[in-house]
Amino acid sequence: MTVPPKVGVLGGGRMGAGIAHAFCTAGAAVVVVERDDAAAQAAYERVAGNLARSVERGTTSETLEALTTRLSVSTDYADFAGSGLVVEAVPEDFSLKATALVAVEEQLDHDAWLASNTSSLSVSELAEKLQRPDRFCGLHFFNPVPASTLIEVVLGKRTSGELAAEARTWVADLGKTPVVVNDAPGFASSRLGVAIALEAMRMVEEGVASAEDIDAAMVLGYKHPTGPLKTTDIVGLDVRLGIAEYLASTLGPRFEPPQILRDKVARGELGRKSGKGFFDWS
Ligand SMILES: NC(=O)c1ccc[n+]([C@@H]2O[C@H](COP(=O)([O-])OP(=O)(O)OC[C@H]3O[C@@H](n4cnc5c(N)ncnc54)[C@H](O)[C@@H]3O)[C@@H](O)[C@H]2O)c1
Repeated sequence: MTVPPKVGVLGGGRMGAGIAHAFCTAGAAVVVVERDDAAAQAAYERVAGNLARSVERGTTSETLEALTTRLSVSTDYADFAGSGLVVEAVPEDFSLKATALVAVEEQLDHDAWLASNTSSLSVSELAEKLQRPDRFCGLHFFNPVPASTLIEVVLGKRTSGELAAEARTWVADLGKTPVVVNDAPGFASSRLGVAIALEAMRMVEEGVASAEDIDAAMVLGYKHPTGPLKTTDIVGLDVRLGIAEYLASTLGPRFEPPQILRDKVARGELGRKSGKGFFDWS
C-alpha cells in the first residue's frame, strides 16, 4: 500500500464521501471532518453505505466491520493530526476552500500532503495561501467516485516533483488512472468536454443537424459513451454555462457560450433535472 496509513477528508458530501470510500477500501484509516454533528453523521452514513455496497458486490475482500473500523467522522480539524494526506472537498468557493485549507494545514505535520478536489479553481492560487505550497496539489475525482476510473492530478506552479510522483501511485492504489495536468482553467477534462459541447450547440443553432444526429456522430463515429449534448443535459445547462463563462474569461472568446445555451438556461431548460434541455426528459 502506498496510500498513507491515515487519510483525512474535509467535507463528506457527495464527493468527499466517495473519496473517503476510495481511500478506506485501499487500506487507509480515514477521518472525515464536517462542519457540524448532523453533517458528520450524514457523512458517516454515506461512506458506510458505499462501503456496504462494495462488500455486497465483492469489490473488496474485507468485511464491512473491518472497513468501518477504519472510518471515523468528526467536526474538529484537530482530528486530522497524524494524517499523511488530507483531501479537501468542501463546496466550490475560493475563499471557503482557502480558509479551510489554511486551517487544515495548521493541524498537519510538516511532511504531510494536502490536496483539493476543486473542479475549476486554480490550484496555484489556492497554494499561495499555504505555508507549504510545494506539498499541495489538485486531486480531481469524478462523480460518482466508486464508478469512475479517472483522477486528474493537477500540479500547481509550486507543487513538488515528489508529490507529483506520490500522487500517481496513490491513484493507482485506488484502482484508478491518473491524468497529470499542469494547473490551467478547466484542467484537461472540463476544457475538452466543454469545447466539444459548445461546438455541438453551435451546430444545432446553425441548423447543421439535429441534436440526436450530432450526438450519434460522436457516439458511433468516435465511440463516446454519451454524446456531447446529452452529457450537457445530464450535467445541467446552467452548470455548463457557468463553466463556459469562466473558461471564456480565462482562455478567451473560443469558449464564449452560444446564444442557444443562454436562451435555454433563461427559459429554465436546464436538462435532465428540469425535464428539458437539448432533449426531452419528461
Ligand atoms: N459533484 C460533482 O459532480 C463534482 C465532481 C468533481 C469535483 N467536484 C468538486 O468537489 C467539491 C465538493 O463538491 P460536492 O458535490 O461533494 O459538494 P457537496 O455540497 O455534496 O459537499 C460539500 C460538503 O462540504 C461540507 N462543508 C461545507 N463547509 C465545510 C467546512 N468549512 N468544513 C467542513 N465541511 C464543510 C458540507 O457540509 C457538505 O457535506 C467541490 O469543489 C466540487 O466542485 C464535484
